[in-house]
Amino acid sequence: MKTLSLATFLMVLALSAAPALTAQTPSFTVEADHPIAKVSPSLYGLMTEEINHSYDGGIYGELILDRTPGDSWDALNSWPMVARGNSAAKVSIDGATAPGAALKRSLRVAVTAAAADAPAGVENGGYWGIPVRPKTIYTGSFYAKTDVPGLAVTVTLENDQTGAVAAKTVVTGLTREWKQYTYTLRTGDAPVSEKYHLLLTITQPATVWFDLVSLFPPTYHGRPEGDRIDLMNLLAAMHPKFLRLPGGNYLEGDHIADRFDWEKTIGPWVDRPTHQGPWSYRSSDGMGLLEFLDWCEDLKMEPVLAVYAGYSLHGEHVDPGPALAPYVQDALDEIEYVTGDTTTKWGAERAKDGHPAPFPLHYVEVGNEDFFDRSHSYDGRFAQFDRAIKQRYPNLQIIATTPVKGVTPDVIDEHYYMSAEESFAQAHHYDKTDRTGPKIFVGEWATREGSPTPDLEAALGDAAWLTGLERNSDIVVMASYAPLFVNVNPGAMQWAPDLIGYDALASYGSPSYWTQVLFATHLGTEVVASTLASAPERVFASVTRDAAKHKLFVKVVNANSTAQPLAIALTGVAKLAPEATLTTLSGKTPNATNSLAHPDAVVPTERKIPVAGPKFTLTFAPYSVNVLELHD
Ligand code: AHR
Repeated sequence: MKTLSLATFLMVLALSAAPALTAQTPSFTVEADHPIAKVSPSLYGLMTEEINHSYDGGIYGELILDRTPGDSWDALNSWPMVARGNSAAKVSIDGATAPGAALKRSLRVAVTAAAADAPAGVENGGYWGIPVRPKTIYTGSFYAKTDVPGLAVTVTLENDQTGAVAAKTVVTGLTREWKQYTYTLRTGDAPVSEKYHLLLTITQPATVWFDLVSLFPPTYHGRPEGDRIDLMNLLAAMHPKFLRLPGGNYLEGDHIADRFDWEKTIGPWVDRPTHQGPWSYRSSDGMGLLEFLDWCEDLKMEPVLAVYAGYSLHGEHVDPGPALAPYVQDALDEIEYVTGDTTTKWGAERAKDGHPAPFPLHYVEVGNEDFFDRSHSYDGRFAQFDRAIKQRYPNLQIIATTPVKGVTPDVIDEHYYMSAEESFAQAHHYDKTDRTGPKIFVGEWATREGSPTPDLEAALGDAAWLTGLERNSDIVVMASYAPLFVNVNPGAMQWAPDLIGYDALASYGSPSYWTQVLFATHLGTEVVASTLASAPERVFASVTRDAAKHKLFVKVVNANSTAQPLAIALTGVAKLAPEATLTTLSGKTPNATNSLAHPDAVVPTERKIPVAGPKFTLTFAPYSVNVLELHD
């Protein structure tokens, strides 16, 4: 958030004062001593999946594109041949040798001519560039074998345009057998740029095979092979309480064989076969089950674990009954991997993978968007999972992805992708929802305006929608926007808009991101009664309080092009501090937005306002999301 300069502050005041206050000024009555519902403490969280290069080329810190050569016709695109001077080399995919049984192929580099001043090998340009910063330590590794024992491989970070070397090291002593080698690259005064590539070269004729070539920059909390720092910082500012993982469509896969098969995503990389995701590219599975859980731990969130439930996107399904039993067992094992102590089979496996302590888990989701299943098998599939999970883990809350017959799920996951007009229209969607049924998890929602990231119009729609979720958070226990991430480089995106944008080097939060930061950082513990009388259309509000902290949070969304005065009357307040804080997110036009070039075009601004007593008029800027924080 930024603080207003004096000039901007005076401008805002002038704007706020613009409309004449008449007898028609709408009134907003807040019954501060009349709580009507509890606010769910876990209301705001994150939804994640491998889409738009969210992990590979996103939050997962790996800098090397296709570190394991893929199985498609273009597998070599990420690994161009390098032959400097008079050297000669041929690069191919070798399906006959790989460092472990899980991997089916490797990169074969046959160098027929090379010398110290004419090296040859391969290069990798990373995910739309390899970002390099000065005085930084990069840690790397690769598996390799050669037909010339003792061979040395030079690893270089080289500028794409100038050929300047940012860092270089030599890995010696390759053998005829596959072995993993580690290396470190230290940059000096290299200028900050993402226009770098990694070179693996040799200086004599030889054939060398590579696999799992990796390079990591410093990561969040220094976690080895962990997450990208800037993106984690953006997420931390959202104060998320949970992470819905691993999808979305990514959980289901296009086919059953392409599902998120959690067991194949744990342990050493060499034991992870990688898999085809549904969003057009292959996943390295570097972001495996344990890495998701580490991510949760780093941001103090709880996982909301979605388990594969026997339905994949192209329509394949598994019938309930004996055929489904192995999948149910798989889910039970997965839950044990997350929560079991080290005396359990999968808890011990997790300890072996480096995390002896169990992770907290309260929610398990069975499948994803099973209303798409034309075989109508979800009633049976859900019941089978629900029964088995409840029997073994009676305290877990089970989430269904659509209403089911025969069993009452604890929670139902509802998804809403809306235009801004639809978000405004749906702001009261949950006001009348039956309180006796299952709780609601809005596991995916977004106002879809703007690309690649949402614009201010979207943020206004989001804010209107969020007032409704917050007001009803006795029943709406959790909510998460989707999709969360987009790599904004051409060709990286499959879905727009997405909350947070980035390239290899930089990142930014969209106006919708800032809306969520505003709502999540002013959550409160109870909803209090409030009445907005004769307000024009496209004005929305909700009020919460935190009694222990003596704070009242009044959220007002003005989605109109004109400033909106409201005559605010606080009832039931014995004491009121003479100054309140008004935080506002606004812009001049609905399509105002943020981007890599202008990351701060639409960000919240904060100002103090005098409050003389419980009745005062406040004018809210055009196209604005506001939080007024009052205390006694
Ligand atoms: O968020 C993008 C996709 O939308 C999710 O993968 C899927 O669950 C939904 O249809």
